[in-house]
Amino acid sequence: MTEHESATRRPAPAPHHAGNAEPHSVVPHSVVPQPAVPQSAMPAGAPGGPGSSVTAQPFASPPSGPVPDFALDRPRDPEWYRRAVFYEVLIRGFQDANGDGTGDIRGLTSRLDYLQWLGIDCIWLLPIYESPLRDGGYDISDFMRVLGDYGNIADFVELVEESHKRGIRVIADLVMNHTSDQHPWFQASRSEPDGPFGDFYVWSDEPDKYADARIIFVDTETSNWTFDPVRGQYYWHRFFSHQPDLNFENPNVQDAMIEVLRFWLDLGIDGFRLDAVPYLYEREGTNCENLKETHEYLKRIRAEVDKLYPDRVLLAEANQWPADVVQYFGDPETGGNECHMAFHFPLMPRIFMAVRREQRYPISEILAQTPKIPAGCQWGIFLRNHDELTLEMVTDDERDYMYTEYAKDPRMKANIGIRRRLAPLLDNDRNQLELFTALLLSLPGSPVMYYGDEIGMGDNIWLGDRDGVRTPMQWTPDRNGGFSSTDPQRLYLPPVMDPIYGYQSLNVEAQQRTPQSLLHWTRRMIEIRKRFPVFGLGAYEELTSSNPSVLAFVRDYDVASTLPMRQPDGEHVAPREHDAADRILCVNNLSRFPQPVELDLRRFIGVTPIECMGGVTFPPIGELSYLLTLPGHGFYWFQLPPAREDHDR
Ligand code: NOJ
Repeated sequence: MTEHESATRRPAPAPHHAGNAEPHSVVPHSVVPQPAVPQSAMPAGAPGGPGSSVTAQPFASPPSGPVPDFALDRPRDPEWYRRAVFYEVLIRGFQDANGDGTGDIRGLTSRLDYLQWLGIDCIWLLPIYESPLRDGGYDISDFMRVLGDYGNIADFVELVEESHKRGIRVIADLVMNHTSDQHPWFQASRSEPDGPFGDFYVWSDEPDKYADARIIFVDTETSNWTFDPVRGQYYWHRFFSHQPDLNFENPNVQDAMIEVLRFWLDLGIDGFRLDAVPYLYEREGTNCENLKETHEYLKRIRAEVDKLYPDRVLLAEANQWPADVVQYFGDPETGGNECHMAFHFPLMPRIFMAVRREQRYPISEILAQTPKIPAGCQWGIFLRNHDELTLEMVTDDERDYMYTEYAKDPRMKANIGIRRRLAPLLDNDRNQLELFTALLLSLPGSPVMYYGDEIGMGDNIWLGDRDGVRTPMQWTPDRNGGFSSTDPQRLYLPPVMDPIYGYQSLNVEAQQRTPQSLLHWTRRMIEIRKRFPVFGLGAYEELTSSNPSVLAFVRDYDVASTLPMRQPDGEHVAPREHDAADRILCVNNLSRFPQPVELDLRRFIGVTPIECMGGVTFPPIGELSYLLTLPGHGFYWFQLPPAREDHDR
């Protein structure tokens, strides 16, 4: 038999709001929940309010039928995050409902139909709390209030409930490590050293402690200590000097942060991205990262979540090497007793490196070094986010290479990274955008997409800090890209307006009308990924070949060898239909030129691969190596059904 196939790229064919408890009050100040706004009181321009300019979009074939994990007639899947597609949203930049030039929660709620149409499972909100916004909201001045510009608690609850109705979950960033210097805790700490908040932060007479801790924001900070003239002492901060680190040695800080978590969990939130978790504790003689005490505290948080909120997720932001990150999952014997998920930071730059070098090794090597993770855990993988494309987890040579290739203008650099969006990084090359997205959706982990990347949004390197990748979402060719009805000069940031990426030509509306657009393609790929839960649940095994430009791997899910799912009450249940055993073969050409590859697939003899996008049957696998040819930056996803089914065909 000749197992010889030549192929070309083909176009793609066509409340659980807990409500069971009052929000907990927290030391030192409790919060009166902010009132709901009746429809009649909505400001002009608000969705559903008078003169609303934000209308539901007419999306083709909206998903219908019961929403699996929120249907009342079946238990919810506590490990939903292992199959989910995440979508990161900057509320400030997504949709402005009240016409003040800043995005808000009600604006996001008005766009939920779009997100449901796109097929994402979980929204990740950047910080939603009261803040002076000197670090995009990661400088929190009140953990229990929604930032006034974004709305109020009632808006938030409505967002969660409306999301749940559409089968979408909502998680939010939670910054435990530090606060804004405007937070009342810090103000009390500096002015009253012997008062109840005197020890809420890390103070020292001299700025020489913890000298082995690196500086993270090298563009702006020269030390992790800053002198406070009011208290006459130095305070510790791992990030900006206006973001003092909380002192987790203080049991009151530990308790206060747990109260914050419970406040939002009681409002129905589905989990948190735990910002900057490696830095909670400090100890002399260490680099003050990943300390035992930090892990102990995370275990305490997890126990609290498991006890009262068993289907919520904790996602660790730990920009560390794989061996250190896996510690954030906790004890494998228990299936994981710290965070359910953690971002895989070292993988991300290596995807960019591998494609530019046209060699699979950077990806292969980092995945080979990545330890197995506990059964109930999952990686979060991503290409871009709201920060610079961080290059902390690469060698010096690799960093130089990345800067040379991807940051040709010095303005593109920020801290130790590159502040650009996905499409400009890839020269707006559709083939590369598709290849990168296919890798994001097929490598082991749950994909986390960044708002706007589904339409290939551009960036603005002339804006400061990381604002260049946080510009308004481009919905239509109308004023301000359909993001806001305000005067353009009042916008929180200008939209991208250049001839290539400008909202006049690059926007959701235009791409929805174009069946071959990146948006439609991305939606289709998400749909395929969700059809095969093996992408989320399956093991990963790389297949070597003699062509270094081709990265081939099998995702294999053998339900029999997998632990049954844990239910909220600790019971184990039989796997459900979505857990059916499945196998997918992914073959990626990292080179810009066409490439052949011969794969040893003998263990699948008799299997007939079915290409996932078009459903086309490829020649059956036999004794000889399986030959495929791929166009430049092309890829295939093949389902490998059991051989028995093949004979039935
Ligand atoms: C990590 C966040 O992703 C980043 O945006 C922020 O500046 C730092 N944490 C400090 O809070």
